[in-house]
Amino acid sequence: MLIFNKKSDLSAFLSPLIKQNKSIGFVPTMGALHQGHLSLLKNSLYENDVTVMSIFVNPTQFNNAEDLDKYPRTLERDVQIMQDLNNNIIVYAPEVADIYEGNTISENFDYDGLENQMEGKHRPGHFDGVGTIVKRLFEIVQPNKAYFGEKDFQQLQIVKKLVLKHNIPVEVIGCPIQREANGLAMSSRNERLSESAREKAAIIYQILNLAKEIFQTNSAEETIKFVEKEFKKHLEFELEYFEIADEATLLPVSEKESNKKYRGFIAIFIENIRLIDNISLN
Ligand code: PAF
Repeated sequence: MLIFNKKSDLSAFLSPLIKQNKSIGFVPTMGALHQGHLSLLKNSLYENDVTVMSIFVNPTQFNNAEDLDKYPRTLERDVQIMQDLNNNIIVYAPEVADIYEGNTISENFDYDGLENQMEGKHRPGHFDGVGTIVKRLFEIVQPNKAYFGEKDFQQLQIVKKLVLKHNIPVEVIGCPIQREANGLAMSSRNERLSESAREKAAIIYQILNLAKEIFQTNSAEETIKFVEKEFKKHLEFELEYFEIADEATLLPVSEKESNKKYRGFIAIFIENIRLIDNISLN
């Protein structure tokens, strides 16, 4: 398996392949790989001649120093997991300096308002950091297709907007959320949960499913109230938000319209660890 730490070496390796019109699939990650990442990799391996995966904990997208500090970094294990899946995956695992060249700050992006909702509201600057790293990685890897998980649904919509507004020639592909056996959405942050919290966190998806049922015959406001009330019964959780939004604009729903697609979005803390999830409501 080839592992590159420098963008110049990766570009030198990829450029003849790009000239030969080989299709490049790209899976950007922050490592601590789980089945969710593997499902992205499998899609990329199936649909492209070459698959590149990046592993980089991007400092500019963290608005909380402790979260950045504690983010799991498990490169050796990640490489082993990829080797077991497919030895042809090309890994790009740079240091901060290779990406930011001594200037670790975000560019500012306008995503037509998508950035002002939910995660954007609660994590100021987060999507500027995501846009900065994703745009740079796209410039380095020059993929034809890039794969993102729907667990970060807002991020997926933002990356689609980024490529559209900046005319970046890459097809952005969203892949379904992968869940643990108890329904908890797979996330690198789950590794930080105690065993008991990981079990208790099953309730998040259970409540999302109940919310889906309730939303069929009730308003968004009533559904939100239901979710808030449910989590008040579980004191180990601290609900940051549950919102129901239009999938395309991510704006909160006021009146339901039959031709629109809606999603419920949640951010919640357990053991001081922030988890997010979402569910399609129609
Ligand atoms: O979803 C993630 O893991 C990160 O936000 C990404 C897309 C790799 C950018 O750092």
